[in-house]
Amino acid sequence: MALLTLENISVAYDQQYILKDFNLSVEKGNLISLLGPSGCGKTTTLRLIAGFLEAKSGKFALNGKDYTRIPVSKRNFGFVFQSYALFPHLSIYDNVAFGLRLRKVSGAELDRRVRSILETVSLSGFEKRYPKELSGGQRQRVAIARALVIEPELLLFDEPLSNLDANLRINMRVEIRRIQQELGITTVYVSHDQEECFSISDQVAIMNKGIIEQLGAPATIFKYPKTEFVARFIGFTNFISFDTRYDEKEVIALKVKDHMFTVTKHASKGEQVGMQGAIRPDDVILGMPGDIEEGPNVVTGRVKVSTFLGRSYQYVVQTILGDITVNKEMELPYPSGQEVRLHFPSEKLVLVE
Ligand SMILES: Nc1ncnc2c1ncn2[C@@H]1O[C@H](COP(=O)(O)OP(=O)(O)OP(=O)(O)O)[C@@H](O)[C@H]1O
Ligand SMILES: [Mg+2]
Repeated sequence: MALLTLENISVAYDQQYILKDFNLSVEKGNLISLLGPSGCGKTTTLRLIAGFLEAKSGKFALNGKDYTRIPVSKRNFGFVFQSYALFPHLSIYDNVAFGLRLRKVSGAELDRRVRSILETVSLSGFEKRYPKELSGGQRQRVAIARALVIEPELLLFDEPLSNLDANLRINMRVEIRRIQQELGITTVYVSHDQEECFSISDQVAIMNKGIIEQLGAPATIFKYPKTEFVARFIGFTNFISFDTRYDEKEVIALKVKDHMFTVTKHASKGEQVGMQGAIRPDDVILGMPGDIEEGPNVVTGRVKVSTFLGRSYQYVVQTILGDITVNKEMELPYPSGQEVRLHFPSEKLVLVE
């Protein structure tokens, strides 16, 4: 059952629509990430759900209840926003207790809940400290505890880890996922960081200019982007525009400039409607003309540029299909001008719109 639904939501600032007929549905207990370029409407969507912003039209429902006109104070939601700082003059205990006191929880019940949630975020023993006496990651955990202690119906995160250093970000995202799953709280998570979104989500929504271009499980989106926008956003750098297409039983046969290609059909992963082939630099196979035979899905070209990536070299290869970017692990790089052959495996090529 979908717990959270946004139906045909429109939001505008000064007559300019940021979200238009926006639809989203999230299953109970799931964590969904909104991922997309700056300005695409991620924070706007969260602010709307939180109740900080009113929709021009459309409906927001939670557990079958219409929330569209319910004020923020009546929504029992937890937020962790990048800029949602802790109260500096309150101890960790009082920071966490704040939302409970607002909700008239007191005495032994308040104490039990504050201590229990601090234990959940591994901060037992820090009750008497003040925010300035904690590390960035510890502070972020207090912010998460503060959001969780009210036992929210919904948890909203907006770039909660962007102020932390890389290692801490990874630890914290594991922690967020652990707590979210343990408590089974439906969560909407916004981040710029693709890896972060993909690693912690049940579902990822890729947004572009106020609409969701694709919604799906992380592994599905990662392998089978449906549109060029999604493909580019998740690291497919190579695109081939085909001239003709012929669908066979298990493969799709395509042609461009007398070059034949086949693309494996992924019946359960969408019909691959487009005429553009997309492939990641890691999935193109690069070799000398003697290593790769001419034939379908193979193109000859010349190395234009090579860059050292650490584990591998990245090449830009000039071909009749345009420049193709490809990564290859090797000891010594091919020199510029070297004639090479590229193989685009059928099962790694996807067709996008
Ligand atoms: N209060 C406001 N008044 C007018 N325009 C706004 C306001 N807040 C946001 N916008 C505009 O709405 C659009 C979407 O903004 P939003 O904050 O939702 O983007 P975002 O996807 O969260 O981006 P980022 O990744 O940079 O945080 C942007 O074009 C932004 O300039
Ligand atoms: Mg934002």
